[in-house]
Amino acid sequence: MSSNRTTFATKLGVIAAAVGSAVGLGNIWRFPYEAGQNGGGAFLIVYLICVLLIGMPLIMAEFILGRHSKSNVGGTFKKLAPNTGWGVIGYMSVLASFLILGFYSVIAGWTLEYIYQAVTNGFSGLSAAELKTAFTEFSTDTYSPLIWLGLFLLANYFIIVGGVKNGIEKCSNIMMPLLFIILIVFCVRSIFLPGAEEGLRFLFQPDFTKINSNVILRAMGQAFFSLSLGMGCLITYGSYFSKETKLGKTAFTVSTLDTLVAILAGVMIFPAVFSFGISPSAGPDLVFITVPNVFQRMAGGYIWSILFFLLIAVAALTSTVSMFEVVTAFIHEEFNMSRRKATGWVVGVTAVFSVICSLSIGPWKDYTILGMTVFDLFDFVSANILLPVGGLLISLFVGFRLDKKTSYNEITDNGKLKCWYFNPLIFILKYLAPVAITLIFLSNFGVLG
Ligand code: PFF
Repeated sequence: MSSNRTTFATKLGVIAAAVGSAVGLGNIWRFPYEAGQNGGGAFLIVYLICVLLIGMPLIMAEFILGRHSKSNVGGTFKKLAPNTGWGVIGYMSVLASFLILGFYSVIAGWTLEYIYQAVTNGFSGLSAAELKTAFTEFSTDTYSPLIWLGLFLLANYFIIVGGVKNGIEKCSNIMMPLLFIILIVFCVRSIFLPGAEEGLRFLFQPDFTKINSNVILRAMGQAFFSLSLGMGCLITYGSYFSKETKLGKTAFTVSTLDTLVAILAGVMIFPAVFSFGISPSAGPDLVFITVPNVFQRMAGGYIWSILFFLLIAVAALTSTVSMFEVVTAFIHEEFNMSRRKATGWVVGVTAVFSVICSLSIGPWKDYTILGMTVFDLFDFVSANILLPVGGLLISLFVGFRLDKKTSYNEITDNGKLKCWYFNPLIFILKYLAPVAITLIFLSNFGVLG
């Protein structure tokens, strides 16, 4: 255990780093495609309920654990419950990190290609159908996605070796506000496209008959994924919080901003989807085949498109950095490996996973497991199974195993802050969240009708 752990330098730094982890491809790439495939407005409603009732309380639970233990995800459970089975949460987190990093880095690589296309004016003059073909050709190619993937992983390596404070905080501080502004500009452009109302209706007018157990599972998975929950990421970041950080307020800010960005992404994408005759259930390709169409219709589209993909790439980077940090801090502190060496290992293993993911979309797309490509399998298993199970265990741990007084002291800064929601929070962590997650699993995997 290292005793001289760094902490985030400023208040803005804490929020920006946590928001930087939460806001990423999950909001801009994954949310629209999941919503598009799972009922639009109906999905959004279930998603919002999950964020409010399960997401926010669990963010607080992870923050409590992290700041109290001042330790990485493995060390946290070793410290707070030595020689018990709880340690499994640490190992599950490592597995989830690698699976997510595997497919996430591939998509991040795609955003780099799109920056390149934007700079060289590659979208210019292409019709919606041509843009789709160009994307498919690129993403199913063997080598070009791998080159961008390599570059992306290299950038991660240098940031993680540099340490939390220097790398993550600075990056997030500037880029997150910028991303927010540019999304709003695109939303405005999108809602003035011909036929935009249909897209807005798709997103905001829920058809409740579309809600079924699969939609609920996917919305819950998306909430965990988007909030960076259930794999110790917020435990790790919480361990870098200073004594002054207000956990409740930070949890609220992070989940609100994250949800807002997802909704903005929806408002940007669905009007365009309907306006250009693209299918909302196009899947992981959705953003990449929709957004370039919008640029073509914008004054100054050249600059906007460069900015857009640049900011998404950075949003992806601040999220992957947080995942790398989970595993790097674990290995560095628990196995006494130097930070540089630990980072090398983690990036190396990720490279293997992500090359497999990338090839599984192109040359290896006929090899499927349970009907899914490796890419889809990693995505499904991590977001819809590993993160919720991790969240379930973390919830039970803080609810039943951790001393209530400890949680109270963390949340209220030793009684200095008022906290009207403390008892409801503990109730949710003990009963509501675990029961809800369990029921969603049971009804999905065939045990309940
Ligand atoms: N929350 C990130 C996103 O929405 O893009 C993805 C993510 C980051 C998931 C960190 C899990 C995690 F631990």
